[in-house]
Amino acid sequence: MEISQELHDRLELLNAKYKAIGQDLLSYLDGLLYADVTTYWDYIELDTLLSLQKPKTKFPDEVVFIVYHQITELYFKLALQEFKALGELKQPTKTIFIDRVTRINRYFEALIKSFSIMVDGMDREEFLKFRMSLLPASGFQSAQYRQIEMYSTDFINLVARDERSMFNVDSSIEDMYPQIYWRHGATEIETGNKTLTLTQFEEKYEQSFITLGMHCKTRNLWQVYLKLSDSDKADDEVTQVLRTNDLNVNVYWPLAHYKSAVRYLARKDADVTATGGTNWQKYLPPKFQKRIFYPNLWSDEEIEQWGKGWVENQISEILKGA
Ligand code: HEM
Repeated sequence: MEISQELHDRLELLNAKYKAIGQDLLSYLDGLLYADVTTYWDYIELDTLLSLQKPKTKFPDEVVFIVYHQITELYFKLALQEFKALGELKQPTKTIFIDRVTRINRYFEALIKSFSIMVDGMDREEFLKFRMSLLPASGFQSAQYRQIEMYSTDFINLVARDERSMFNVDSSIEDMYPQIYWRHGATEIETGNKTLTLTQFEEKYEQSFITLGMHCKTRNLWQVYLKLSDSDKADDEVTQVLRTNDLNVNVYWPLAHYKSAVRYLARKDADVTATGGTNWQKYLPPKFQKRIFYPNLWSDEEIEQWGKGWVENQISEILKGA
């Protein structure tokens, strides 16, 4: 066989690469010789992937429920990959900022559009039965969802609204963490008792959340935005991707999600209790939660109207059939 110039150059490069780390190129070429070629099923770990759905009941729709949660977590993983990369940039540029935040927006838009798989794609009677076998688990315990929040905004914007005036942007994460909005949502106001869902969630993740909160102090998306030049910060396209991000994560996804809670748990007479035990009708709607990642980009009027309007129509439509 004739060794072309191209092949020769490639071997030279490989030789230099392995020499630099004290390795012998020939041994690695032997490795190539004996290695099997990659197949699709091995590469994407198909068998493992398809073995990860372990329903607790025999109801087929429980598989829909599990798979859709897993799909969501995978999109969350992709979003986090972008947040992390953005957070490490010393000097972000407008182009990379727009490009990467648009990726995150795309992931959330895929989730928002596909949420009908939950809202319309399961039999209600089956759902009400199989959900009892997964108590007290709840999507509330999605750690990646909480990580996305911390990677998005200054921690103070995650503090429950009624408690926020006690803090400022420089307050310590340890001080603010106990007042984070979702702990409030899962704590009984009269007794101060935490729901079991919250207790278990914190047993597993509390320390890592506090550590991540500190890590994100200088790396959250708002802080990345502040590192842009003044002209880039004022650029319409830049502010628009952030506003879209805020709406996707804090209005449209929560509304699509809330629609599924209404569809399965709401009753004209008495609503069904949630597996996580929150007062979900008061806790979930964005107009009550008013979680806003980038408040500086919205007018007082827009903040006042947060999550209102569209939701009432959607929800009353579902309730007609409940
Ligand atoms: C039929 C489908 C669903 C229903 C009925 C439902 C219901 C609920 C309810 C009632 C809560 C409030 C906490 C509690 O008391 O349990 C909640 C929270 C939550 N769920 Fe779901 N859920 C559904 C699907 C999903 C899916 C597919 C995900 C994706 C991971 C998800 C993620 C979450 C998250 C992240 C929270 C916390 C929201 C927050 O703190 O603002 N849920 N869900």
